[in-house]
Formats: sequence, structure tokens, C-alpha cells
Amino acid sequence: MTSITIKPVENQQDLIIDNSDQNVSLQGTLKIPGDKSISHRSLMLGAIAQGETIIEGLLLGEDPRSTAACFRAMGAEISPLNSQSITVKGVGLGNLQEPLDILDAGNSGTTMRLMLGFLASHPGRFFCVTGDNSLRSRPMSRVVKPLQEMGANIWGRQQNSLAPLAIQGQNLTPIHYHSPIASAQVKSCILLAGLMTEGKTTVTEPTLSRDHSERMLQGFGAQLEIDPETHSVTITGKPTLIGQKVVVPGDISSAAFWLVAGAIVPGSELLIENVGINPTRTGILEALEMMEADIKLENKRIVTGEPVADIRVKFSQLKACTIGGDLIPRLIDEIPILAVAAVCAQGTTIIKDAAELRVKESDRLAVMASELSRMGAKITELPDGLEITGGTLLKGEEVDSYTDHRIAMSLAIASLIAKGSTTIHRAEAAAVSYPEFVTTLQQVIQVS
Ligand code: S3P
Repeated sequence: MTSITIKPVENQQDLIIDNSDQNVSLQGTLKIPGDKSISHRSLMLGAIAQGETIIEGLLLGEDPRSTAACFRAMGAEISPLNSQSITVKGVGLGNLQEPLDILDAGNSGTTMRLMLGFLASHPGRFFCVTGDNSLRSRPMSRVVKPLQEMGANIWGRQQNSLAPLAIQGQNLTPIHYHSPIASAQVKSCILLAGLMTEGKTTVTEPTLSRDHSERMLQGFGAQLEIDPETHSVTITGKPTLIGQKVVVPGDISSAAFWLVAGAIVPGSELLIENVGINPTRTGILEALEMMEADIKLENKRIVTGEPVADIRVKFSQLKACTIGGDLIPRLIDEIPILAVAAVCAQGTTIIKDAAELRVKESDRLAVMASELSRMGAKITELPDGLEITGGTLLKGEEVDSYTDHRIAMSLAIASLIAKGSTTIHRAEAAAVSYPEFVTTLQQVIQVS
């Protein structure tokens, strides 16, 4: 019998994909959830703007729920995150209230790091922020240090570098910060602190990271000067921000699972609708193009300041490539799923300059190397990347997400090309960015 079974097991935490005969392909047209980065920013800017912000297509995942809960606790009125249209009634710039309890960012680095920019710059108010086990082990000094240069008062574990953090809000001083890393979270944190700071605050980064904050801040009425040559952004403090209508495009980081699945599962063809193709995020498309994937962009358009397209992917034999340098920040979240693509590519793929992956929701280099090795892949962990020799057949195994959403989904896609049954422990982590992942997988699977 030809069969595939995809089922969350009884505890609702594990996922079993039993691909006994491998005669499956992926077919159809699918929609992906809203962009996580844009969702956070629309909730945050809506919460501090004057008047009403309407957000369409917000990601209804765990991470934006953490952001919404934090800003509700500081006075913003945010409608329940259960519909395609969310209303945010903002408090107005500088009017976030002191919360009565600890702010919990859950698993979300973006929530914690961006929010710190607001909290540090709200004079006279005291805040405590924490997160889950993963977030409490992720480095916060990358935002604490520049905020301290602006005059912020922040205390935390291990020389103020780990959450929980306590913040006594202050009037800050503008700085020009030269960030040692290309990080949109660092850049955005400083720009958001600069919103409340009289004068001009500048951030320069070594290479360009995602620019959703810049686009949305301008959309809400902030004055920004952007120098693409030097990767510098300057914000002028104390603007009037007015609530807006934001339409959130589909998340290319979620589309990436289907782009790779469509490219590696024989006979597949998928059309992924409404994908955000902001050039600071399209590294995955360039990497797959280098690997000679059959991918076409259709119906390109601009939706509330962000470029969008439908993307068609067909199965093809992939070739190995080398991924590194300036491309890394533009596909930083897609490296786990690119590792799965590399397992199916002819030759040896090298991913380098990606040490940042060690401080994501899990150590993504170590975890992908260990879990794909278990399934039979030839994969070696490098200090700053991975070396993967394609062409080995994967076998079903027991693997673990390490509670990292992108690992859970990458392993689920890997299991589609594995012989036998794969159990992904703690796969429920996918709900952080993609609550409908398993349902969509069930919809697109075709058994011949
Ligand atoms: C994000 C920026 C990236 C990315 C994260 C979301 C954002 O992190 O990995 O998932 O929304 O700003 P860094 O900016 O730390 O690279």
C-alpha cells in the first residue's frame, strides 16, 4: 500500500510523518501566514501611535501574541488575535503605562529586543521583562549596550546581558551606533529608542539587515534618513505617529519550507500566494536559484509599502552551492531549511559566516547537524556554518525540535524524503510562527 500518515500524536507535542513508500508529491496552491517581523512591528507601532491602526493578515502565532500581551499590559487596546483584521488603539508616543506585572516576551527575541527600545526611553516608569527558557538564554547585551550608551538604566543577569531584565525608563541622549553585527533587532531597538529621544539617532550596520522597521516607521509618519551606501539609518526623535492601515504580506520565511519541499520532493508543483519579497529577505530565492531550483515569481505588486508576489516552485535536481557573506542576513532564518535542500543537492554545499545561528531560538547549527545526521545525512558542523554532502537517502528516525519552530518544520520537510516513519518530538513549537503548518502539509500531500 502507498501511504503517508501525518499526525500530531496524542500529547499534541510530537508529530509523526510516516512516509512508508515515498510515492508522494506536493501539489496545489497555498497561502502562508503573515510575516512575523512585520506583524510585531505593526502591533508595536500601532500601540504607540495616535488613533487607530487596522492590521490585516497579522500572523496569529505565539510570537505576535506575546507582543500583543505586552503592549496591552502597557495600555494599548488590541482586539483579540483571532481574526483577519485586528484593531489597535494606540496610546500616543511617550504614553506607554507602567505595567502592573512582568512583561513576558515568551519565545520571541523580536518582542524583547524591540520592546527594550521603547521601555528604556519612557521616563519615570519601571519595567521588568522576561521570556521562556530559550529567550532567557539569548544575548541581550547587543541591545543593552547601545541603550546604555544612550543613558538607559537596565539591569539583568550576567552583567545585564540576560533576561529577566529590569528597566528604569529615562530621557535618553541620541547616539551614532556602529553595530558590530547586521541585526534588524539591534537596529530596530535603537531606532525605536530614538523615536522618544530629542535629536537624531543613527545606526550603522556592517551589511544591510531586514528593513521592515524603516518602512513602517516612515508609513506611520516618522522622519528617517537612509544611506544605502553605508547601511546607515537616522531617525529624528519626537515625531507625531498616526495610526495606519497595515496589510501584512505572507512570510517568506514560512514560504521557505514549501519552496524547499516543492524543490526536493519528486513530482511536486506548488503555488505559494502572497509572499513578501522585500529584497532584504529574498536571500532564500537567490540561494535556491544558485542551486538551480525551478522557481518563478508571478503577479509582483506592492502592498502597503512592501513588495509581494506569488511564487511557483517545481521539483528539480538541485546542485550544491556556497552560501555566505552579505547573503547571510538576507536568509538568516532560512538556513535550517536550506540545510535540508542541501541534503538533496548534488555535491557539497557550504554554509559559512552564519555563527549567529548559534544564538537563535536554539543553536541551529548544532541541532540541524545532529538531527539530520540521525536521519542519515552527511552533515558536518563548522564553527560558523555547515558542510553538507548531498545524495544520501534519509531514513525515518526520532528527532527533536529542541523547541525551535524552524527546526520542527525543517525536520518535517526532511521527513518527506525519508524512508519510513519519522517522529519529531516537541513539534508543537511550529505554532510560534506557523500554527497551520501541519494542516497545510496535510492539504498539499498527494499520494500516487
Ligand atoms: C528579526 C530579525 C532577525 C531574525 C528574526 C526576526 C526581526 O534577527 O532572525 O527571526 O523581526 O527583526 P536578527 O535581527 O537578530 O538577525
